[in-house]
Amino acid sequence: MIEDKRIDLAKLPKHVAIIMDGNGRWAKNKGEHRIYGHQHGVTSVRECTEAAAELGIKFLTLYAFSTENWSRPKEEVDALMELLVQTILAETPTLNKNKVRLLAIGNLKSLPGKCYEQLQEAMAETANNSGLTLVLALSYSAKWEIVEAAKNIAQAVKDGKIDIEKISDQVIDENLTTKGIPDPELLIRTSGEHRISNFLLWQIAYSEFYFTETLWPDFKRAAFFEAIVDYQTRERRFGKTSEQLIS
Ligand code: IPE
Ligand code: IPE
Ligand code: MG
Repeated sequence: MIEDKRIDLAKLPKHVAIIMDGNGRWAKNKGEHRIYGHQHGVTSVRECTEAAAELGIKFLTLYAFSTENWSRPKEEVDALMELLVQTILAETPTLNKNKVRLLAIGNLKSLPGKCYEQLQEAMAETANNSGLTLVLALSYSAKWEIVEAAKNIAQAVKDGKIDIEKISDQVIDENLTTKGIPDPELLIRTSGEHRISNFLLWQIAYSEFYFTETLWPDFKRAAFFEAIVDYQTRERRFGKTSEQLIS
């Protein structure tokens, strides 16, 4: 049951992407260590995933760990990887119960072995679920992804598989890790930061941005619904005029 009656179920985004930010500050505000914030961030992941699944949203992409995050103190990186393994292990039955399919994008080979294996296992176990697709961006950065796509396309040209003139938006889409996933209509960033931090640069060309001061561990079901309500007030013009959209 969707308790927020302001939401128009006929006008939902197909894909919502979230830059989950502010765990460290949330913990600091409570006089706790940063890891405590990450642990509590998992509750928000669970609530937003369930809320998205209940609404009938098809894709939810969560920025969980960026390429740049490898530069954090080793102790924090290790704790985040451990938390990831534990969470995937604990949540897979709930994902199945809620018909959620798990996918991951990013340089997955750079993850610790245990993490990589747990992830592959969870993806295989949820592969046939037909509800929400939850996409975890792990060791992900948009520039990394675009460089990989450029290499693949250059190789295809070299091998005579594609003509340079045939390189199009669609060819680039197909060479990104998000192949087959529609571009997000809505991009949320928590914690009051107004930046993209190397997330989905190509795919957010026409996304609506929603920034909130709320720190990620406080971003729960009601906050997710609030973002959807806000999105539904936007007029998406795609270069046209308002008048053209009405007629
Ligand atoms: C987001 O919270 C989680 C990750 C980037 C892994 P942060 O850890 O960036 O929290 P702040 O921004 O330092 O508060
Ligand atoms: C962005 O958050 C990456 C994730 C949410 C995983 P950061 O906290 O790493 O971003 P910056 O460094 O403040 O831009
Ligand atoms: Mg941060």
